[in-house]
Amino acid sequence: MKLCMIGTGYVGLVSGVCFADLGNEVICVDKDKLKINKLKKSIIPIYEPGLDELVKKNFKAGRLKFSTDLAESVQKSNIIFICVGTPTKKNRYEADLSQVYSAAKEISKNIKSFKIIINKSTVPVTTGDNVEKIISKKVKHNLFSVVSNPEFLREGEAIRDFIYPDRVVIGTKNKKSNKILKNLYLPLISKGAKYINTSRRAAELIKYASNAFLATKITYINELANLCEKLKINVEDVSIGIGTDKRIGGRFLRAGPAYGGSCFPKDTRALIDTANKSKTSLSLIKTVVDSNDKRSNLLLKRITTILKNKIKNKKITFLGVTFKANTDDMRESSSLKMIPFLNKKGAKIRYYDPTGKKSEFDKFKNVEFKNNIKDACELSDLIILHTEWNEFKLIDLKKIVKKKNFIIYDLRNIYSSEKMKKNNIKYFGIGK
Ligand code: UDX
Repeated sequence: MKLCMIGTGYVGLVSGVCFADLGNEVICVDKDKLKINKLKKSIIPIYEPGLDELVKKNFKAGRLKFSTDLAESVQKSNIIFICVGTPTKKNRYEADLSQVYSAAKEISKNIKSFKIIINKSTVPVTTGDNVEKIISKKVKHNLFSVVSNPEFLREGEAIRDFIYPDRVVIGTKNKKSNKILKNLYLPLISKGAKYINTSRRAAELIKYASNAFLATKITYINELANLCEKLKINVEDVSIGIGTDKRIGGRFLRAGPAYGGSCFPKDTRALIDTANKSKTSLSLIKTVVDSNDKRSNLLLKRITTILKNKIKNKKITFLGVTFKANTDDMRESSSLKMIPFLNKKGAKIRYYDPTGKKSEFDKFKNVEFKNNIKDACELSDLIILHTEWNEFKLIDLKKIVKKKNFIIYDLRNIYSSEKMKKNNIKYFGIGK
């Protein structure tokens, strides 16, 4: 089929490349000329393992094209995916849908034959209705159909999550569109993915409800971890003990710092906003957002205690600063709260991240990027394991760190307390 992806971020680029790899003809459109020119040279703007090979392969095969011309790309395609950003509005809970609606308007100017317009971006419930209203101002109803097809792609695992989804959710009551989309996703369904056809609004809500539930699971285990620390219990045992109940499931039950990323914080807030607008309350999700917002301060209090209230001039190292491993994304990463706080208290901070120096920290004096683990750690009083990159899992800190009684604070529980104790390393974990 001929597809057009509007927006070449995590969702648009990964989905477009994977659709091309399934044999479709795909045009990825972006108004950012520089980005499109780089993509034409297979220079990928995002860190997504395996994506560059797939771009090169499909671009070379001629199935994947890049363009800044939305009009021409829409006219050449049968299915148009809107994959633009829907960030949270400044200091609000509401999602900013301006990019979605302007894309819809542009699309409506270029519909001469039947097209399916798909909201793949995470959009609040009823956005599909509004997109339909915008397009129907210019286009007869029999010439288009607006469908919700939310993505469930985790950063760092996006290609795998696309090719092997648990389910494909298609929100439309239009039989023709449903048939076409079932055909488009056939290669994934034949590998075992469930195909769920429902109403457009239900599909929109499924995305938010799914992310909010995962955020709830994480917050649940994070709060249990706080209790475990008081009771000298290892939260990992509790996580396994409850996660082996198939009704609960073991995934997204790893205690850690506050959850971050471009989705959970944004989607939980947008869902609360949708509920407020519908004059109902999602009190549980509100509690999750509130608990997560407070988590970094809680961990900072713990760090202050660990350093016996003496932070000034202490040499603190952050191993990893991105919001999770296998991504270069800093959005809502807990390091964005923790490093400035400690810096303000007079700490001398060094950090290393496999994805390199972060501009977010450029403005801070005494916050220095080191391009290897040894230089980042050797003089440290306190090493904070912030992001669970594989390369941190086997390092021999005793060999690297020169300071005698350095401390490690393992925010991701990647190290064993027993091993640390055996090596006489002062170790603190989460929930243990
Ligand atoms: C998420 C959803 O998983 C994905 O389906 C959706 O499409 C986009 O949002 P992503 O934000 O990339 O994906 O990251 P994810 O792997 O879900 O992790 C989100 C946050 O939760 C990260 O900060 C991660 O460190 C944290 N997390 C995850 C935990 O703290 N514990 C866990 O057990 C799992």
